[in-house]
Amino acid sequence: MSNRENWGSKIGFILAAAGSAVGLGNIWRFPYMTGKMGGAVFLVVYLGAVIVVGLPIMIAEIALGRATNKNPVGAYTAIKPKGGWKLVGFLGVLTGVMIFSFYSVVAGWSVGYFFKAITGELNNIDSAKAGEIFSTFVANGPWQVILTGFFILITALIVVMGVTKGIERMSKIMMPALFVILILLVIRSVTLPNAGIGLEFYLKPDFSKINPEVVIAAMGQAFFSLSLGMGAMMTYGSYLSKKDNIPSAGGWVALLDTSVAVLAGFMIFPALFSVGGIQPTEGPGLVFQVLPIIFSKIPLGIIVGPLFFLLLILAALTSTISLLEVPVAYLIDERKWSRKKANLVVGLLTFLFGIPCALSGKFLGLWDLIWGNLSLSIGAFFIALFVGHVWKTANALQEISQGTKEFKLARVWAFWVKYISPLIILLILLSKILSSN
Ligand code: PHE
Repeated sequence: MSNRENWGSKIGFILAAAGSAVGLGNIWRFPYMTGKMGGAVFLVVYLGAVIVVGLPIMIAEIALGRATNKNPVGAYTAIKPKGGWKLVGFLGVLTGVMIFSFYSVVAGWSVGYFFKAITGELNNIDSAKAGEIFSTFVANGPWQVILTGFFILITALIVVMGVTKGIERMSKIMMPALFVILILLVIRSVTLPNAGIGLEFYLKPDFSKINPEVVIAAMGQAFFSLSLGMGAMMTYGSYLSKKDNIPSAGGWVALLDTSVAVLAGFMIFPALFSVGGIQPTEGPGLVFQVLPIIFSKIPLGIIVGPLFFLLLILAALTSTISLLEVPVAYLIDERKWSRKKANLVVGLLTFLFGIPCALSGKFLGLWDLIWGNLSLSIGAFFIALFVGHVWKTANALQEISQGTKEFKLARVWAFWVKYISPLIILLILLSKILSSN
């Protein structure tokens, strides 16, 4: 028997895992990707990717984590001590550090915008002014580095305190509050003049815009948003009790996460097209330029604005906690480091890579593409192969059956994880190369 900590309850796991999943990925990355990749067509492919590759891998990751009670490196070695599988675990640990580094930059933007909202800098501005505020803000290098470091520091302080106490408590309050305020902002956005143009952009797919780049981006977005492909859900699953139902917990997490992303789209696009002056293809700054405009057009915007950024900061924090927990759990379990030392070293390393991301938008974009998209897709591919062919789905189903009376889709899931998911991921990753021949 291990004496590993467990979540207080299944709802504790769902909240914590949803806390990991719901974050800047939903509210910052999803709208900017959708805008960049042609609107509704991206939404459709993204939703498809959540169901076709996201959900099956979510269940596989949680099951593997709970069965081995381990961090990613430990999980692979527990089942297959020899061979290169350990490297896939390492890739996950490394990906955690790298995503944490650029993620903290954008989380730092949320902190900066929280202060801007409080001080009234964002009051009654138009799109030109919003663009100007954002570019001046990101051009201030030292301030960007400080905000990034601040966010890494806060995350590390929470992770030092241990698993259940820090994470569970926070998600319980933050998630419902975020949902409510998001819905309020959606209502305002869709009732602005000419909101229909934005709704059309977001909901009426133009399938002629589909290409390998859109599909790769949508699949990467699904993995990023669901925290899959690097072992975050594996690590969280290792704290899940044997009494809990894995497919239902995983399904809830995916549903919550995807709803928040879809709502974020409804918040951004109608407002964007209603005021004009900002292009949907704007890129990483998109949300930070559109939100202040919505706040300017809402009663009590002066209160709603800071509150929204506060919740966004908390949502980002529950995600960075899970990003940091992966390398930390590895160092504690496999290297026998103390929790303190692990946090300190990983925190410093993250900061080191965070600096170039904080100083250069180009570098941030590159890091996001390499680690936030490609590395997660490659990781997810190997997780499916490993669970399907090395650990074997029969063993995975045995693990899942503890706590699940009846997993109706057991056989479909097994076939899917063995053949369909890896094949689809591989084809999508190769599609760019294949299509240019
Ligand atoms: N899913 C988180 C978000 O959407 C980011 C994340 C990715 C967290 C991978 C953990 C692992 O914000």
